[in-house]
Amino acid sequence: MPKESQSIPDELTALIHRAADMVCRSQRLVVFTGAGVSTESGIPDFRGPGGIWSRYDPDEFTYQKFVSSSANRKKHWVISRNMFMKEYEPNPAHLAIAELDRLGRLDCIVTQNVDNLHQKSGVSQEKIYELHGNTRWVKCLSCGRRYPAAEIVQRLDNGEEDPPCLSCKGILKPDGVFFGEALPQHILQEAIFHSQHCDLFMVIGSTLVVYPAAYLPIYAVDAGASLIIVNMTDTPMDSNAQLVLRGKAGEILPAIVDSLKTRLRSRNDE
Ligand code: APR
Repeated sequence: MPKESQSIPDELTALIHRAADMVCRSQRLVVFTGAGVSTESGIPDFRGPGGIWSRYDPDEFTYQKFVSSSANRKKHWVISRNMFMKEYEPNPAHLAIAELDRLGRLDCIVTQNVDNLHQKSGVSQEKIYELHGNTRWVKCLSCGRRYPAAEIVQRLDNGEEDPPCLSCKGILKPDGVFFGEALPQHILQEAIFHSQHCDLFMVIGSTLVVYPAAYLPIYAVDAGASLIIVNMTDTPMDSNAQLVLRGKAGEILPAIVDSLKTRLRSRNDE
């Protein structure tokens, strides 16, 4: 077990070994992540203690509000710049999930996160379905031109408060999905397909209260998959899960991977 896992209580350690056993036996593992997988990278979650929605009103963050007034966009860009458009690094949870991929155990990642940290941890983009977009990009709502976030950060830091598109003067918007905005349909359909065809679905760091993303573990269980939930607080799907591991993803995931590697080694030695 990695050193930090010595702080893991015995009953959780037993669940970690059971989870590793389920991953070892699975043929098609879908990992589903929410904001809780990134809090140990320094990105606040939304509904946990001190989360974003305890500091800001989500009704201010609708697509309609953003496009309806420059004053709303100026407010939004200040928050976006200081929260989503900073450079963050993957934490041990992201790195453990990437290790599952290197061990050939990962079918795909379905994420609600927009922070690009699964890509940064080394998982290829083809295996990542971003249901809520990715704020590494900013898009023009009129002509569709896309800008790397760093370019817009530079313009904001140079004093622009509501930077327009350089090509057509249209409204620029971070490429994350806002409330009231449609999810990218082809990505959602792919994520639904993988959820309905996996044999193990692992939820990491999500309250599972935002739809349609929260339908995915339901589709997986309805299609016969086993369910593991790694989360610091309870979720509506806990009673449908074979295993619920209550604790920090940055400790639990490395411990699961470590236990899995022990299993794979002993299986190869047979
Ligand atoms: N380890 C495990 N769980 C954690 C950790 C951690 N280090 N940190 C936080 N959590 C848990 C919190 O207790 C909470 O239950 O992760 C969960 C995060 O839930 P939310 O903040 O609701 O985030 P998420 O489920 O991803 O929200 C879904 O809501 O506002 C929208 O678009 C936004 O994609 C987001 C969607």
